Amino acid sequence: MKILFASSEAAPYIKTGGLGDVASALPKALAESPNTEVCVFLPYYKAIKDDPDLELEYITNFTVPLAWRNVYAGLFRAVSKRKKLQYYFIDNEYYFYRDGCYGHYDDGERFAFYSKAILESLQHLDWYPDVIHANDWQTALIPVFLRAFYMNVEKYKPIHTLFTIHNMEYQGRFPNAFVDEVLGLPEDWKGTMHFDSCTNLMKAAIHTSDHVSTVSRTYAHEIQDPYYAHGLHGVLRQHSYKLSGVVNGIDTEVFDPATDPLLYSDFTADTLEKKQENKRFLQERLGLATRDDVPMIVMITRLVGHKGVDLVQAVMDDLMRDDLQLVIIGTGERQYEDMFRAYAANFSAKMSANIIFDNTLAHQAYAGADLVLMPSKQEPCGLTQLIAMRYGTIPIVRETGGLFDTVPAFNIETGEGNGFTFKSYNAHDMLDAVRRGVSLFHDKEHWTALQKSVMAYDSSWKRSVQEYWDIYHSMVD
Ligand code: GLC
Repeated sequence: MKILFASSEAAPYIKTGGLGDVASALPKALAESPNTEVCVFLPYYKAIKDDPDLELEYITNFTVPLAWRNVYAGLFRAVSKRKKLQYYFIDNEYYFYRDGCYGHYDDGERFAFYSKAILESLQHLDWYPDVIHANDWQTALIPVFLRAFYMNVEKYKPIHTLFTIHNMEYQGRFPNAFVDEVLGLPEDWKGTMHFDSCTNLMKAAIHTSDHVSTVSRTYAHEIQDPYYAHGLHGVLRQHSYKLSGVVNGIDTEVFDPATDPLLYSDFTADTLEKKQENKRFLQERLGLATRDDVPMIVMITRLVGHKGVDLVQAVMDDLMRDDLQLVIIGTGERQYEDMFRAYAANFSAKMSANIIFDNTLAHQAYAGADLVLMPSKQEPCGLTQLIAMRYGTIPIVRETGGLFDTVPAFNIETGEGNGFTFKSYNAHDMLDAVRRGVSLFHDKEHWTALQKSVMAYDSSWKRSVQEYWDIYHSMVD
């Protein structure tokens, strides 16, 4: 089977969040199946173009019709020996030779161009996939354009589309006039494109793609509920017959404590004393008290409301009275950044605020910390808890989305479960879960058993890849 995986980011080329990890690891895992070809498409961003270590080859160029415009597109490919997994890059310096991936005034037009260019490129490559797997609003126009403009083109007819939602919050909303001025869609497409007095690309993709998925089973249920759907619950309920939840995995080669080159000391479930060495190293690096007997809790997150940072803020004084260490790594809203900085200044032996995104520090924190805190209001999947578990670091999570699916509550009687959980979005319920974690930390026998068991948790893509195959086949066969 031939799969075209369309994304606006994919590690290691370009990454701003979880989508970048998924768009790297999932195609890699899919391409390992027999009789499979996977092509990943990305915009040829400035950061990729300017990277002297990347070797891309020019393939061709063509013109992309977009409403009244005819726009240049160059097609490049990463030099690779792996025939089954290829990376293609859509070039247009006007749209993509800019800093950052998103946040420009014309993002709608940029990604409309990108989506159309992907479809156009197929005839220039003479390569037609069985399935186009589009992700998030940036590639949501692929199923729309495919139906509107290519359905009478013989070689495009057999192509099926899967649209995966990584986060309901970002739907790609633009003014109503966008439909004809930028997209050039015929008048009768307005009903599909419009929602709530604007053009909504995610809604249009839900309508037009053959199948819709999201990144955990629980989130697939949650987004049919107004609390989680950011307005699209009705649309999702109406299309629930073609909606699935497939939980993300992680790249277990990149995140492997036995071989991770970024760690102070590599370790396995059988050499947990070496995890201690990572903890001491981290305490020294961050200027915290060097103590083995104090639980260290880390948050590696964007500092924004829906990640539950407001809950942490509400009980910071309580946390600082408890005998624990708290390490924050991430950037985000100014109010939270300042708040954590202020606490770190007042409680320097037990609190460290690293208002940066630093990949090496993040790996060292996964390895050195005892617990990882994720009190998200909404979490479609979440990768941090999966990575943390691989490094024997126990999650404390709110029971939502992928957190609920991957971190069942620990039961001391049976030894089952992966971490400490709470249900209501409430700061004191969270504090209670933190304290349950801290208390188990001091019960060494159960603690070590839990560490070993979360390290054995299978967070590879194996099972989920099979579920994606089932979806692809259900559309194609
Ligand atoms: C988004 C979601 C996150 C998910 C990631 C990859 O960033 O917020 O929960 O893990 O996409 O699917």
